[in-house]
Amino acid sequence: MDLRIFDGPDDAALALAQRVADTVVRRPEAVLGLATGRSPVAAYAELRRMSAAGQVDFSRASTFNLDEFAGVDAAHPGSFRRFMKEHLFDGVALEPARIHFLNGVATDLDAECERYECELDAAGGMDLLILGIGSNGHIGFNEPGDQLVARTHRVRLHEVTRRDNAALFGGNIDNVPREALSMGMGTILRAREVALIATGERKARCIERAVRGFLTTRLPASFLQTHGRVELFLDRAAAALL
Ligand code: GLP
Repeated sequence: MDLRIFDGPDDAALALAQRVADTVVRRPEAVLGLATGRSPVAAYAELRRMSAAGQVDFSRASTFNLDEFAGVDAAHPGSFRRFMKEHLFDGVALEPARIHFLNGVATDLDAECERYECELDAAGGMDLLILGIGSNGHIGFNEPGDQLVARTHRVRLHEVTRRDNAALFGGNIDNVPREALSMGMGTILRAREVALIATGERKARCIERAVRGFLTTRLPASFLQTHGRVELFLDRAAAALL
């Protein structure tokens, strides 16, 4: 894995934004995979700024978000769709038809996962996937466990993940859905390039295990070691144990 370590979170965010912009400038019809969570927020803000300044044009790019909560529609304040609208989509000229999302309120959630997988294949797969990492080492919503799932699928969220996401649901863990839909490990590992951002000391232990540890379903991010083109954008705190 290609480690890029920055003095602080802002520098890591700027570098990630530049990495995304370079991809889109080089290939205007790039297919981007997008993550939610606090980690990429500053990079998304920088991309909005670059877009407004005419430094990057997203009008021919496509996006596929990694995951969405089950039972939550696009308008719900806790939905990842809403999160992306606020942090990125409203500030860049993406074509709405090229923004792809899992529908958390589809009547048949398994069929919805299959539809998404097919839609991604039809778009030619992801050129660049932006990832964060959960404090338990999850990527997307692929939670640690005895096994991992390759394709886009329904997930039972761990308690720690629901707690980490409570801010989106009024700070109350009881309001956080118990299930989500997520790209699978195979879906993620098929992205041609991966850019993972992690900042702060809370991520140091899982970053150390993801980079230096054994491949294990107990730390889904460890499987990124098998991918030839992963860049990690870290601040000093997240890289402290490396
Ligand atoms: C959620 C998302 C992940 C994200 C993780 C980390 O669980 N499903 O894609 O990486 O949060 O969140 P944060 O960046 O806020 O630490």
